Amino acid sequence: MADFIGAVDQGTTSTRFMVFDHDGREVARHQLEHEQILPRAGWVEHNPLEIWDRTQTVIGTALSRAGLSGDDLAAIGVTNQRETAIVWDRRTGRPLHNAIVWQDTRTAAIARALDADGRGDVIREKAGLPPATYFSAGKVQWLLENVDGLREAAERGDAVFGTPDTWVLWNLTGGTDGGLHVTDVTNASRTMLMDLTTLDWDEELLGFFGIPRAMLPDIHPSSHPDAFGATAARRGSAQVPIAGVLGDQQAATVGQVCFEPGEAKNTYGTGNFLLLNTGTELIRSENGLLTTVAYQLGDAGPVYALEGSIAVTGSAVQWLRDQLGIISGASEIERLAAQVDDTGGAYFVPAFSGLFAPYWRSDARGAIVGLSRFTTNAHLARATLEAICYQSRDVADAMEADSGVEMTTLKVDGGVTANDLCMQLQADVLGVPVSRPVVAETTALGAAYAAGLAVGFWSGTDELRANWHEDTRWEPTWSEDQRRDGYAGWRKAVERTLDWVD
Ligand code: G3P
Repeated sequence: MADFIGAVDQGTTSTRFMVFDHDGREVARHQLEHEQILPRAGWVEHNPLEIWDRTQTVIGTALSRAGLSGDDLAAIGVTNQRETAIVWDRRTGRPLHNAIVWQDTRTAAIARALDADGRGDVIREKAGLPPATYFSAGKVQWLLENVDGLREAAERGDAVFGTPDTWVLWNLTGGTDGGLHVTDVTNASRTMLMDLTTLDWDEELLGFFGIPRAMLPDIHPSSHPDAFGATAARRGSAQVPIAGVLGDQQAATVGQVCFEPGEAKNTYGTGNFLLLNTGTELIRSENGLLTTVAYQLGDAGPVYALEGSIAVTGSAVQWLRDQLGIISGASEIERLAAQVDDTGGAYFVPAFSGLFAPYWRSDARGAIVGLSRFTTNAHLARATLEAICYQSRDVADAMEADSGVEMTTLKVDGGVTANDLCMQLQADVLGVPVSRPVVAETTALGAAYAAGLAVGFWSGTDELRANWHEDTRWEPTWSEDQRRDGYAGWRKAVERTLDWVD
């Protein structure tokens, strides 16, 4: 067997390819950003062709930089930004619209209508999700209603839908030349169209959104040797089996080896996503969390998770850089925020896409409150880091309330965890230690694990557990009073953002 496993990570702001060895150590990587298309307030789109172009480039460049070829890979895994909706013509391979990204709020009226007539409760029960703009189904309904000829083409089976995993897989496996139209259970569980117990598309849910079944990909387990085909051989390159597919937050859960009920991780990317493994038991949240599929390995049954999804965390840092221009790069925020000891009473609630968990308020919009003439860029930078931590506290509290399990340590990963000040603040705001592993790229690692398990590169989850090593641990330093008062201020600031738009 070849010595390495590869993983495509098609994320919200960039696409990367990474290669791992048997110990889960990084051997190669390349990463490229793609354009964030913002046609109107609240709308966020990506160009699917640019994403596919970036995918091919990062694979080729990562391999060639490390002196590797497809022959060195025992398998490839794919992981992706979830919920984002792409429709394309399977005969031409052309997208029929830009991808509508998970952060996009254009479907607010569609989401609202679901709760007005009782469909919302059926969706909560079957799909485990609250009606919100976040998930794919409303986006597909919007496309069917707004793209000329799409409905007819979808009913004929020419126009197809997929989340980014499906788009990348279809292209990787040959595109118009026999590409597979497939997805995995974790991605399907984010559409609002899959029943969590049958793990199949549900006719009643499809009917709620008027979505023809012919548009939808086949659903498979997340780790499987035969379900996802192999890369199409191009220009003499080798065919490599594609054996693992997971939504990015579920991939990070696998990469953090959260295989036992009660184990949780928090990923700090564009948004933050806290997932708690609840085992084979499907737990329904009473505190604003989602019920979702964590993973399904081969023919074993699904493992479920509770998830606290936060729309805007790392992208608030990007906003300081791109829209306000007060920092030139993500790494500069730490230096700026460290110039002050606190925020001077300021709070920043970055509710750019409404508020996700645990509030689920699409009528919220961002606010900076508690300003005085004393406030500087440094206070705003620090308030941005605190917002990341307070939002995580909101979902961690909901998680404890739903599960009855008290958090003792928080396992973290993702780009923002390179920010030591932010991680210290996270430990302070939560009052529990925060632990970062040596391999912080757990999303790509999790997809590689899913692929490697399927082809026997790794023997089982125990072997993966042995690959996890702590790199850094932050202990809480705030007093209880400081923690209580700081959080009370945050909740007051959140109140100010509600009822802002219709
Ligand atoms: O649900 C959205 C999530 O999958 C996006 O993750 O890392 O691309 O921001 P990320």
